[in-house]
Amino acid sequence: MARKKIALIGSGMIGGTLAHLAAMREMGDIVLFDIAEGTPQGKALDIAQSGPVDGFDAKLEGANDYSAIAGADVCIVTAGVPRRPGMSRDDLLGINLKVMKAVGEGIKQYAPNAFVICITNPLDAMVWALREFSGLPHNMVVGMAGVLDSARFRHFLAEEFNVSVEDVTAFVLGGHGDTMVPVIEYSTVAGIPVPDLIKMGWSTQEKIDAIVARTRSGGGEIVGLLKTGSAFYAPAASAIAMAESFLKDKKRVLPAAANLTGQYGISDLYVGVPVVIGAGGVEKIVEIELNDSAKQNFQVSVDAVKELLEACKGIEESLA
Ligand code: APR
Repeated sequence: MARKKIALIGSGMIGGTLAHLAAMREMGDIVLFDIAEGTPQGKALDIAQSGPVDGFDAKLEGANDYSAIAGADVCIVTAGVPRRPGMSRDDLLGINLKVMKAVGEGIKQYAPNAFVICITNPLDAMVWALREFSGLPHNMVVGMAGVLDSARFRHFLAEEFNVSVEDVTAFVLGGHGDTMVPVIEYSTVAGIPVPDLIKMGWSTQEKIDAIVARTRSGGGEIVGLLKTGSAFYAPAASAIAMAESFLKDKKRVLPAAANLTGQYGISDLYVGVPVVIGAGGVEKIVEIELNDSAKQNFQVSVDAVKELLEACKGIEESLA
């Protein structure tokens, strides 16, 4: 059986980490793509040379031409620029929309059967635009945000409860970061919901509220510490979990930005919801009954995504 092919579009900090993780896990052969000449080739060669030491078999290739991604089973997209001081939201949208257009057209031409995971920010708008430009089926294009947001939440909860991260599950909905909606009734330690743990005296509502707030600004906290860049280890690990669920048909239930078709009363919008990811891409959207406060927060998140899409349509006519 031939190896799977994983195309990483964007070979910066997250792209390089993705390549390393995918190679170490022997997920398949890897193509690193970037517009920067030398970067994908250099990272591919460097990681390939760690293979004999770590004992993994994976072919790694760096490329500046989309033809290199031909036939990819999975494409993970990190291409784009981060928001820099002095750059307005619309400046950033304008630049990254152009990037999504080029990437979407490249995928359409060379890897139309791939499962596509978008990481580029602002995530909920970029994944929608990438789907539009690529023309791929909606179930094959998702955005990575929820796995990262819930991983941050799980990490903080595990620290608070002094238990293994493995036994902490978190349920998050909504947009990436600021508008993320953690549903604490469905967040558990080994099946015990967080509100019950508060009653059991394991923590207090105030402490959990502070953890929620810290999770929402989790990306900003890391930018503040690194000063010259943003998080890349946890974002890459999160996208790898999604790619593995697809490649191995694991049917994991993971939060992801997925296209809604009436679930939660919303249509034609990419929003973060729990989904089942298997060989068919997004095989199912998990729709739960929300309480009033979660409903309200989810609506704020949805409105923020809608506003971003309107701004995108104003910038790029072909999306209107
Ligand atoms: N096509 C391909 N690659 C591109 C393009 C393009 N049109 N434009 C930019 N790139 C490449 C850059 O050359 C760079 O190597 O995208 C890469 C982005 O890498 P980094 O700047 O290191 O960013 P990274 O930390 O990997 O984050 C990528 O994910 O979390 C989001 O906000 C983050 O949007 C950002 C993305």
